[in-house]
Amino acid sequence: MADRSAPGDIIIAPSILSADFARLGEEVRAIDDAGCDWIHVDVMDGHFVPNITIGPDVVQALRPHSKKVFDVHLMIAPCDPFIEAFAKAGSDIITVHAEAGPHLDRSLQLIKGFGKKAGVSITPSTHESTIAHVLDKIDLILVMTVNPGFGGQAFIPAQLDKIKAIRKMIGSRPIHLEVDGGINATTVALVAEAGANVIVAGSGVFKGGTYADNIAAIRRNAERARAAAA
Ligand code: DX5
Ligand code: ZN
Repeated sequence: MADRSAPGDIIIAPSILSADFARLGEEVRAIDDAGCDWIHVDVMDGHFVPNITIGPDVVQALRPHSKKVFDVHLMIAPCDPFIEAFAKAGSDIITVHAEAGPHLDRSLQLIKGFGKKAGVSITPSTHESTIAHVLDKIDLILVMTVNPGFGGQAFIPAQLDKIKAIRKMIGSRPIHLEVDGGINATTVALVAEAGANVIVAGSGVFKGGTYADNIAAIRRNAERARAAAA
């Protein structure tokens, strides 16, 4: 379950938020077979975001269904009391929100202490300068391209400048730049051109068409846009 990808590689991470929750294990196996790279797990608490989804027991139950990286996105506040449970449940990457509490650095230390990769996410209203002080401590930055809480929302184009700015801030550091929200085979070209390399897609993978075709189309358009921008 180790992340063997290089920081610049295009990585497709379907969000199981858009899967059939009555058949989650089967859905995880289906996106694995369909060629995804990582599996994105959206954890919501009804407090930090206006929705409630998946807890650590569900992550643990899903773990035997795939050997791929579990990319766990915590949209919860506080997050620190739950990091141990998500780490022990089999998460590979744990991402917390910079807005979720006053002690971001402490949350990152906790994640690293459990031997996991650490990510920081920012919502559309947060400026990139908020995460400048943790750049040397993280493995991933997640730029939300919708307001977190629900799948199926429209991509917010104003986030493209932020993605470009963060790609510059990252420089040569080995940090993945992930985007999440409203990404499909069309919008992926914009974010990949702006510098994102990890692509989360919920509706874009699970709704309409086959999972394999949807993943392949998103990957193809991301790689094309990235090559054109290089
Ligand atoms: C939103 C979640 C996303 C969501 C994306 O709060 O973090 O991962 O599932 O769904 P789509 O791709 O449908 O916008
Ligand atoms: Zn997410």
